[in-house]
Amino acid sequence: MAEITKKAPSVLVVDDDESIRVLLKKQMQADGYTVSTMDNGRDAITAAVEAPPDVVLLDALMPATSGFEVAEVLKSTEATRNVPIIMVTALDDPESKLRALKVGVQEFLTKPVDRNEVSLRVRNMLMLKEYSNFLVDQNRILEQRVEERSREVVNSYRETIATMTRAASYKDEATGAHVQRISYYTEALAIALGMNAAFCETIRYASPMHDIGKIAIPDAILLKTGPLNEQEWTVMKSHTTLGAQLLGSGSSPYLQMGAEIALNHHERWDGGGYPARLKGQLIPFSARIMNICDQYDALRSVRSYKKSLSHETAVEILTVGDGRTMPAHFDPDILEAFKRCAKAFCDIFETVTS
Ligand code: C2E
Ligand code: SIN
Ligand code: SIN
Ligand code: FE
Repeated sequence: MAEITKKAPSVLVVDDDESIRVLLKKQMQADGYTVSTMDNGRDAITAAVEAPPDVVLLDALMPATSGFEVAEVLKSTEATRNVPIIMVTALDDPESKLRALKVGVQEFLTKPVDRNEVSLRVRNMLMLKEYSNFLVDQNRILEQRVEERSREVVNSYRETIATMTRAASYKDEATGAHVQRISYYTEALAIALGMNAAFCETIRYASPMHDIGKIAIPDAILLKTGPLNEQEWTVMKSHTTLGAQLLGSGSSPYLQMGAEIALNHHERWDGGGYPARLKGQLIPFSARIMNICDQYDALRSVRSYKKSLSHETAVEILTVGDGRTMPAHFDPDILEAFKRCAKAFCDIFETVTS
């Protein structure tokens, strides 16, 4: 006949009275359990913590360390917190029962112990324990699933954002390298400015969407090789408000910051930017970070209307100015952080090319 091999439950018997230890041990063995015994509280604690049994039969009154103290330690120790304890006691006063219940003892047996009662109590305890183990496992599995699901949701957000952004930049930049670099510059600068992890992570995924409004700008303007006339410039500037409209209805933090950046990334610290001529702190911090990153990358890149510039020239234009761009356009703290990170910007520009 095939035999189901399941590990026998283990019982720890703790009693200073040898005759009771022997009696309980025999009976538990007869019930099919693996039994170990201890004659004092201190050794019982050591043994239980080292190899937690499935149930403890614990004498209440022992010299030195009492059963109450053993129970208290086991119930407050991580490894043994869930081990059920049946307290075996000659006492029948409600006060010591209460004391035992308070430290987490689940069951009582009164001496002299009744054989049937011991067997029944132990069996019940083991069944409860098994059920609670099952619940704990189930819970752990559920928590893992929820975590996996949220990770999946975040990842699909990011994927969607990356796809959308790439589509938007396709006309003037086929590889998507510009938006990829923007992601890295803004994150690096946010970190250098001491922003918290959530902000740094959000700006990393939000910033590539800054120019998404260009999707609605006619090619004749977007790809024009010469300078823009006044009317073309008005249309071009609307890429900020158009982008904010597109992203603004989204509720994810990425889309919300994306909208904020899209709207404000051409505002200037001195109030000379567009679309709202906001000044200083009124410009969202994310957009102030974006602004300098955008300009660094634009200066280094070839555009339909301009050639590429060296790292040194780009840094010079941003930090000293060239008439069109001036240091007063930037939040002074962010400009300082940019100077500290300039080398990293150069590395990002040179390594992220496709
Ligand atoms: P973009 O090409 O991505 O440039 C982003 C920003 O980088 C510009 O914002 C500007 O602040 C800075 N920038 C770009 N090139 C230079 C440069 O040669 N010198 C200096 N000092 N700064 C530069 P801005 O000016 O608000 O322009 C926004 C967008 O409008 C540009 O994005 C580009 O798509 C378009 N645009 C700007 N000027 C022209 C132009 O003369 N011709 C055409 N076809 N498009 C232009
Ligand atoms: C965009 O990010 O949507 C446009 C990229 C560019 O200006 O090259
Ligand atoms: C920050 O959030 O640390 C920047 C505050 C600000 O300048 O707007
Ligand atoms: Fe822009």
